[in-house]
Amino acid sequence: MADGSNAQWPVISLDHVAPFRAPSAAHGERVAQLEGAIPTWLRGQLTRTAPARFATDHWQADHWFDALGMLFAFSIGDESVGLRWQDLDCAYAREIRDNRRVRASFGTPSKRTFLQRATSPVPMLTDNCNVNVVPRGDHLVALTETPHQLNVDPETLRVTGAHVWSDSLGDLGGIAHPSLDSQRQCWVDVAVVLAGRPKLVVFEHDLAGHKRSVVGSWAPPNVPYTHAFGLSASSVVLIAHPLTLRPLKMLFSDRPLIENFVWDASAPTLLGVMSRATGQTRTVEAPTGFVFHVIDCFDDGEDVVIDVLRYPDADVVYALRTERLAHESMSLRPMAERWRVRPHKRTVDVTVLAQEGLEFPQIHRKFSGPARDLFWGTSITLARESSHSRVHRVSQRDGERFFARPGVVYGEPIFVAKPSANAASVREGDGALLCVGSKLDAQASVLTVLDAQSLEVLADAWVDVSLPLGFHGGFSRARGLNGA
Ligand SMILES: [Fe+2]
Repeated sequence: MADGSNAQWPVISLDHVAPFRAPSAAHGERVAQLEGAIPTWLRGQLTRTAPARFATDHWQADHWFDALGMLFAFSIGDESVGLRWQDLDCAYAREIRDNRRVRASFGTPSKRTFLQRATSPVPMLTDNCNVNVVPRGDHLVALTETPHQLNVDPETLRVTGAHVWSDSLGDLGGIAHPSLDSQRQCWVDVAVVLAGRPKLVVFEHDLAGHKRSVVGSWAPPNVPYTHAFGLSASSVVLIAHPLTLRPLKMLFSDRPLIENFVWDASAPTLLGVMSRATGQTRTVEAPTGFVFHVIDCFDDGEDVVIDVLRYPDADVVYALRTERLAHESMSLRPMAERWRVRPHKRTVDVTVLAQEGLEFPQIHRKFSGPARDLFWGTSITLARESSHSRVHRVSQRDGERFFARPGVVYGEPIFVAKPSANAASVREGDGALLCVGSKLDAQASVLTVLDAQSLEVLADAWVDVSLPLGFHGGFSRARGLNGA
């Protein structure tokens, strides 16, 4: 129901369909039933976010990305594993519940009056921060792909307010995948700026999120849909795949954001390789395709290398519409490729990194660079009645390994390195993968702890609530446990 005029809501909802099914209560807690043994060095909290509520009695999310968000956390202690979940309190959710739909979201139309459209030609954007949650100072911040970011109490998972910057850069925005530079102790992020000539603006900010400073900007011929970017010591690599924005389509419109983008299959992907020292940007060509996620990015001599997961086209964006998810099957299995940017070449050198497609990449961050061997991820097929997934471990040296469990759909694996008192003795891949799975045939979910090398199950922590498949999150160690 693209125009939102039908009063019979919901027309299509994934609220009761695993792996999208959420707990019936807006918040709650459980003590997990533990099978196996979690390593004694693995103590802390895994916090994730997910789209969770697909419909009210007068609204439905037309796209997976627009379901109202929730946060959940598994706390791993010496005696037990606990789960807490909390629906995300944001203005978008409150307005939906009040039957007001004034904010633009990714794939669901807004519903504004003529006067609202006339007085605010560019609509307000959603603050439904259901894509990622990252640490910022002593709290967490929930992120989506608009200027709105929400501060979250890491213990209660409640929103404590909108994040406010202490600088003069205004509503610069950001994406849901900022990159942490642990060497320089800062975050790097990208904003899409539409005023004047549309461009991508790269900025850095301190760990506490007080003050931003601009690194540089890049204006490709058309501004791309930007979900992630590459960050090396020398460069920021911006990915302008040919799914690009037509800003004028946004004016006076109630169209969802994605309908303002155009896919051009005949165009290459452009990379903007920005020097972090000068802000100057060089443009090179990469294969046509669509990229949500970057595996790794690093300098190799004078080359800049970015490892990406590339779909052949942007159909994945549209395949995640609620109606298509309800009636069609689709797979999240882009191909892993290495794009090498050489100093005087206008096109990248391409190497295929894995035989099988996968999404939601992870690496052992300490080993980012030319000698890194491993990455992990999950491939997911979404099909009513028969969704399934596989966790992948990909090694350039000893091939690919997989973990799957019938009847359970796993999302992004989170790699946690095993701590070591001697940093020099740390081996790449020594650690665990934390994988949250949604059980298809029962209201149950599991935190599965895998050995990151062998993919053998170390432990399962089961809870009798449905946790919806989501996108991203992270692990924070209990105090006193240092990572590598
Ligand atoms: Fe993402």
